[in-house]
Amino acid sequence: MAKVKETAQVISQERLAEGVYSMWIHSPAIASQAVPGQFISLYCQDGSRLLPRPISLCEIDQEGGRLRIVYRIAGKGTEEFSAYAAGSPVEILGPLGNGFPLEEAEGKRVFLIGGGIGIPPMLETAKALKGEKTMVLGYRDSQMFLKEEFEAVGQVFAATEDGSFGTKGNVLDAIREQGLKGDVIFACGPTPMLRALKAWAAEENMECWLSLEERMACGIGACLACVCQSKDVDSHSHVHNKRICKEGPVFRAEEVEL
Ligand SMILES: Cc1cc2nc3c(=O)[nH]c(=O)nc-3n(C[C@H](O)[C@H](O)[C@H](O)COP(=O)(O)OP(=O)(O)OC[C@H]3O[C@@H](n4cnc5c(N)ncnc54)[C@H](O)[C@@H]3O)c2cc1C
Ligand code: FES
Repeated sequence: MAKVKETAQVISQERLAEGVYSMWIHSPAIASQAVPGQFISLYCQDGSRLLPRPISLCEIDQEGGRLRIVYRIAGKGTEEFSAYAAGSPVEILGPLGNGFPLEEAEGKRVFLIGGGIGIPPMLETAKALKGEKTMVLGYRDSQMFLKEEFEAVGQVFAATEDGSFGTKGNVLDAIREQGLKGDVIFACGPTPMLRALKAWAAEENMECWLSLEERMACGIGACLACVCQSKDVDSHSHVHNKRICKEGPVFRAEEVEL
């Protein structure tokens, strides 16, 4: 798979919730190769911000040559992106990393679990999985971005930290409250959520695949800025590390220390 670096064009931008934006980008070259769970790097136009910002692919429209990202304003880079309008140029690199292993889900009951800004990559993953799936989404409050789009794909259970909708608490609280069952977990979200899911999967003897997040610099495996601890020795660094941008961001839960 060849990575593409190009100046693409913003097709549209929309605010979904407080500080959360959805952007469609015209990029047939990246869309034609991308798979669910991969990400792109976006470069800022402001030259004082050199490092590209990694953002997951929320939707991949191969026929239309379009990519969708959904992101929360976290600092100067994402704030800059939120000001782009239709027609704005945007420099991107992708597709990056490895997606969710959809073949591992065949014939199994799949949990698709997203927490906070880890929710967006689960949408394309949910659309790509044709079998039995249960989607569990964890939000801070009632600003439940993308929920209706998940509902168009299948049954959704939600948890909110403030209890304003669904189960009060986190995604595991919702799973336990509803007595949900599955064979394999695909998840993306904050590290405490992933850690809890890893422990639960081990208790229940479920397969578990987690998409990790770490600060990145190159985004292509060259700088070791994004390593996490792993059980195996990395072929590049020769220590017990894995590069999230290159070997991940999706890992089998037992492979990584959280
Ligand atoms: C594989 C991957 C996928 C991601 N997908 C999404 C997504 O779909 N939606 C979304 O809202 N966010 C996502 N993030 C987080 C997103 O990359 C950061 O919020 C963003 O880089 C912040 O940039 P900033 O300039 O606004 O913030 P600043 O804090 O000003 O950024 C300063 C530097 O730190 C890096 N940085 C800051 N926070 C993070 C972070 N959480 N992860 C990685 N680098 C960070 C920035 O890239 C930049 O180089 C993802 C991160 C990774 C690693
Ligand atoms: S960001 Fe450079 S190796 Fe991952």
